[in-house]
Amino acid sequence: MCGIVGAIAQRNVSQILLEGLSRLEYRGYDSAGICTIDKNELNCIKTTGKVKNLKEAVKEKGCLGTIGIAHTRWATHGVPSEVNAHPHICENLALVHNGIIENFAELKEQLIALGYNFKSQTDTEVLVCLIHHHLQSSDNLLQAFKAALNEVKGSFGLALIDKNDSNTLYAARSGSPLIIGLGIGENFIASDTLALLPVTRRFIYLEENEIAVITTESVNVYDLDGNKIEKTAVESDLDTESISKGRYRHYMQKEIFEQPQSLQNTLLGRLRGDDISTETIVGSDENSFKDIEAIQIVACGTSYHAGLVGRYWLEELTGIPTNVEIASEYRYRKAVVRKNSLFITISQSGETADTLASLRLSKEQNYSKSLCICNVNGSSLVRESDFTLFTKAGAEIGVASTKAFTTQLLSLLILALILGKQKGTISAEQNHEIMENIRKLPNLSQEFLECDSQISKLAEEFSGKHHCLFLGRGVMFPIALEGALKLKEISYIHAEGYAAGELKHGPIALIDKEMPVVVVAPDNSLMDKLISNVEEVRARGALLYIFISKDAHIKQDEQTRKLALPDCPEILQPILFTIPLQLLAYHCAVINGTDVDQPRNLAKSVTVE
Ligand code: G6P
Repeated sequence: MCGIVGAIAQRNVSQILLEGLSRLEYRGYDSAGICTIDKNELNCIKTTGKVKNLKEAVKEKGCLGTIGIAHTRWATHGVPSEVNAHPHICENLALVHNGIIENFAELKEQLIALGYNFKSQTDTEVLVCLIHHHLQSSDNLLQAFKAALNEVKGSFGLALIDKNDSNTLYAARSGSPLIIGLGIGENFIASDTLALLPVTRRFIYLEENEIAVITTESVNVYDLDGNKIEKTAVESDLDTESISKGRYRHYMQKEIFEQPQSLQNTLLGRLRGDDISTETIVGSDENSFKDIEAIQIVACGTSYHAGLVGRYWLEELTGIPTNVEIASEYRYRKAVVRKNSLFITISQSGETADTLASLRLSKEQNYSKSLCICNVNGSSLVRESDFTLFTKAGAEIGVASTKAFTTQLLSLLILALILGKQKGTISAEQNHEIMENIRKLPNLSQEFLECDSQISKLAEEFSGKHHCLFLGRGVMFPIALEGALKLKEISYIHAEGYAAGELKHGPIALIDKEMPVVVVAPDNSLMDKLISNVEEVRARGALLYIFISKDAHIKQDEQTRKLALPDCPEILQPILFTIPLQLLAYHCAVINGTDVDQPRNLAKSVTVE
């Protein structure tokens, strides 16, 4: 969701900025822009649509300069258009912005009264004018920048340049991530490390309410009162390989097929016989969770579905009562917090605004500890939580989450084992059996991927439908929810996930020949109950797609398509049965001709509320 890139160097920076924007495309956006300082003038080019349109415009018009800022915009205030695209300019200043300035309307009125004119409908143009206004009464731009930021309410990641000073790039953050990339004789900023991997691997993470003043040789960071802050640079371990599509047609396809490796990486170095090493949860020791008596999980989207699965495992293996809630709901509710409660956030990016706000709220509540399950080292959630369990999925570029989800599930199972061990609620035999099963997971996931060609055939029939139901029972209910979410987000087929036992309380009214029903049916203790629900649907003429363990029996007729999947241990079924659902969504999207990796209106990392 919106991307920022900035650079200051002794070479032309426009190609670095455009390449950075291309690498941020996965975050979701609808327009893009770039501004450099060339011969003391601001050279600004903006286009709607994809970054390739901006690249063509830059090629045509030319864009030189050793300092510049660039942006991909996901519209919040004002429609996607060239005028509303960033950078926004006020006289000598150009600004790009991620986030939302909540009090922009009242600031705009004040600025209009002072004689400022506005071309766009954006909050960002208001902010650049506010900085310009303060500059008229300040000694320098840093002072004016601070004064303006002290007046705004809301969230921002910002990059600012001044045509009268081509030696300094300014950046600031509050609520929207921003990192500084350190080069040799050149420095960079971006909203995401992926944008800068071709130019550097050394990064400084800006914290809340920090301003950076960046030249080719120096990076100075201040708080909003002007106090200097010492920062430490960290080396990124992301490889450039992870951000190429390789032999695959789409990132999503690559990421689905990477799951055996990413699940292996989640386990790497963590399993010691029947034990899990204490370093698995960063910041913890063997007693950290002994006194935990309740758990609250908070997350958004796919990560929320992971939390719903996690609850089954946590309650079964640790006996600890566990609640799961959507972050945007949790943050505005007066939750009752039990004594000795653990607050868990789950997030691929570690930057989702509602999840982060919930974590911050939890610190004012009565929680004893916070833990995040996260894929991105250095992200806000990681930095602000007491403990972190890294999912180690590797960079995920496709907007629809796939390998991030299955590694979140595996991480939750590992967490349940760690907590169960500390609480003494798991027997040695049960622990041994689960550990043995976990070790089989990467190979089993490879076997599940082999259903790809069968699913692509099913998808041909399926993709023409407009609506679809996904059914599951027990721990497979959240997997049905996730299957429906995958399908709707990338193929635009309307899909709903339902607990199979709930069907007769409403959705059964929708069943007819035009409404396919996908049943997630691994062979487990709820199989018989599920089959009864399937019969109710069959009796009403539904077209059934049953994803079932290969040895389990199900009645076959012309209404039923059976996809036989490998046998697997019950504890691993939620992870493994996710894979065919991801493939179904993927193939339907390809057939429907949608933008698989960047579906319309969606963003990978939702950094605004
Ligand atoms: C967006 C993404 C989803 C993701 C959700 C939560 O909606 O498109 O794929 O599940 O945000 O993101 P997080 O980074 O917190 O897991």
